[in-house]
Parts: sequence; structure tokens; C-alpha cells
Amino acid sequence: VVALVASLAIGYFLGSIPFGLILTRMAGLGDVRKIGSGNIGATNVLRTGNKKLAAATLFLDAFKATAAALIAQKLFGSETVHLPGLLGGFAAFIGHLFPVWLGFKGGKGVATYLGVLLAVFPVMVLVFAFVWLSIAKLSRYSSLSALVATLVIPVVLWLIGQPEAALVTAAMTVITWAKHKENIERLISGTEGKIGQKG
Ligand code: G3P
Repeated sequence: VVALVASLAIGYFLGSIPFGLILTRMAGLGDVRKIGSGNIGATNVLRTGNKKLAAATLFLDAFKATAAALIAQKLFGSETVHLPGLLGGFAAFIGHLFPVWLGFKGGKGVATYLGVLLAVFPVMVLVFAFVWLSIAKLSRYSSLSALVATLVIPVVLWLIGQPEAALVTAAMTVITWAKHKENIERLISGTEGKIGQKG
């Protein structure tokens, strides 16, 4: 129980560090929540025009979830069982989406989703990247690419005989989709901004 509570608490607090907001402020670019989609994620940081900052946001947001998952695995003393990592990673995902510091208004969870996969099923990062990059190449929509990639992951995990991971990632997919409500409306109405497009 102590390991579980500690894993969830550490995960939540790591996840709640809004790197996109911190990096853009440090770079003197102002509040990233006031531009583009208003999101704190890498896609919106890219709308500042600073590619390096966007890449750094993607990696740091992903790695905080990876770190949370690995810490949880250590706390549970398990090398092979995936469940502790999934729980720690899930806590980081929730921390990123609902950070107490930002009035529970956080990001959409795509980078943290990737970070959880990196810790628990690294090969799934390749599946995610392949789907994301394919859809992005065709459509130039970051949101659509993430929506499709997050649909594919639980299905693949289920098919390869990982029901626990399929369930946890399916929950993350549902929450990610809910957080993309406005993106989905913009995609349907044809007003969604394309990758790197400012405004
Ligand atoms: O990673 C979030 C992405 O799917 C959408 O971001 O800023 O276009 O709402 P944004």
C-alpha cells in the first residue's frame, strides 16, 4: 500500500510539471496558453516558431512519465511485472492533464502517453511513432495523428496478449480523446491548425 500511494503521488507530481509553460516562459516567449490552441504541449509550443523548444517540451513531458513509471517499478521491486509501471505512468499522465498548479487545466497527454509506453513497452513507441508520423505526413494535423495513434495502441497491446496494458492505455486513450474535444470539433469543421502553423 505504501509503494502504491508513493508511486501514485510521485507520478502525479512529476506529471504535473508543465514543461511547455516553463520553457516558453524561460525563453521569454510569454505564456504559451495565450497562443494557438492555448495548450501547454509541444504542438502548441511549436506555434511559437521555436522548434528546439517544442522538441524539448515533447521529450521532457514524455520523460517525466517514463521516470514516474520506472520509479513505481523500483518501489514495487519488480523488474518484469508491468502493472506498477503502468500505474506510476498513469499517475503522471493524470498529473499532466490535471495539474494542481494550473487550476487542474493541463495538457492533452500525448507526450506523457508516449513516455509511459517508453518505460513499460518500448517497442510500442515505434508503433505509436509509425502511426503518428504516417497520419501527420498525410494530414499535417498533430491532433488527428495523436487521436489515431492512441486508438491503435490499446488494440495492438490486446492483440499481443497484454490485457492489463491494453486496459490502462485504453483508459488513457479515452481521456486523451476527451481532452481533444475542441480539436475534434475543429477537424470536423475544417478549422484545425496544421503542424507548425501559427495563430
Ligand atoms: O499533443 C496535443 C495535440 O494532439 C494537439 O495540440 O495544441 O493543436 O491542441 P493542439
